[in-house]
Amino acid sequence: MTEEKVKHIDTRPLIERFPFPFKADSYRYSNNAESLIPSFVLDVTPEYFHEISEKRRVLDSRNEQAFQSFPHSMDAQWELLEMIIDEMTERFPTFFSVKKMDDLWTFQNHLLKEKYTFVFGDSTTLPYEPLDFIGRHVQEDLVYLANRDGDLYMDAGQLCFPANWSIAFNLGMTFTEFHSPVPFTDRGFIEKVRNFLLRMEPGKPFTRLNWTITVEHILDTFPENYDEWGPKKEKITTENIGELVHLRVEDQRLFRLPKSNGILFSIHTSLLPIEELQKNEEWLTRFYHVLTDLPDHIAQYKGFLSYKDKMIQYLEEILQKKAGVLK
Ligand code: HEM
Repeated sequence: MTEEKVKHIDTRPLIERFPFPFKADSYRYSNNAESLIPSFVLDVTPEYFHEISEKRRVLDSRNEQAFQSFPHSMDAQWELLEMIIDEMTERFPTFFSVKKMDDLWTFQNHLLKEKYTFVFGDSTTLPYEPLDFIGRHVQEDLVYLANRDGDLYMDAGQLCFPANWSIAFNLGMTFTEFHSPVPFTDRGFIEKVRNFLLRMEPGKPFTRLNWTITVEHILDTFPENYDEWGPKKEKITTENIGELVHLRVEDQRLFRLPKSNGILFSIHTSLLPIEELQKNEEWLTRFYHVLTDLPDHIAQYKGFLSYKDKMIQYLEEILQKKAGVLK
């Protein structure tokens, strides 16, 4: 990026801007959604070019795996495209711009030097469906939930960086159905969260952080390509664990859409090698306590039970070394 462009984004080292997810020394499933202020969908980070190229690689090679929609989601997809283009161009005018002449829109992505002219509302004038089109310009994954018959249904989504789930598998499911693999101990919990979401109002978005662990810096961890990333956990040793194992955090945001009355669920994923935590002792100590206290059924669901003890040992050794130095 040029210097002029860089000033609009946070270019601090990742460890200084990473969305560390733990607020206490213990982690359990809970409704940790909070009001989102200011109410923005997007972040543009120094990882923009890498992540957009990864997204497009996935979409171009496995489009049906990463983008799915029902025909009846088309009006909502246009509503989402408008909402996202408006935010992009108002917040980052040197990166993105739009000219609207009635329904004839010209959208430019100056970072990628791309220009598109289309008729708003007419999908035949875009190279992809509206959600698939605009998702190719932002780092976030974008999922649309329709509000119908007093429930929430996954009706469309572009999901390139999933933490082991897929839009191709989940399309059409209700909120309760697509959460059914999660080992919540209180089975009524997810209905309570759904009822909370059903009460959401336009202009009052929410946010929450979710976390898991990924081996290597791999964003596209789908169930469909598990054979590529799953067996990598076998490679972990005490020597390479700090570099291979990554804390994976999803900044998730929820917006009620005023026209369609559906919900936009956006996910911005960040990965940090756990060796980087040495640079922030408070986070290192907290992560150590969280892992030590974590029930096995949660580690099992998140896929790292087989190397949880190795991680604890690695963190403990660093903490001991740091304590030794301080003595
Ligand atoms: C409305 C948008 C949401 C969507 C589309 C969504 C979707 C999902 C999906 C697909 C999974 C993975 C399930 C699997 O293993 O197949 C998941 C996991 C989960 N969801 Fe949601 N979710 C949403 C909102 C929420 C909210 C508001 C909460 C608040 C508590 C929540 C809590 C969780 C938890 C705790 C997990 C397990 C994550 C883990 O242990 O790594 N979700 N979600």
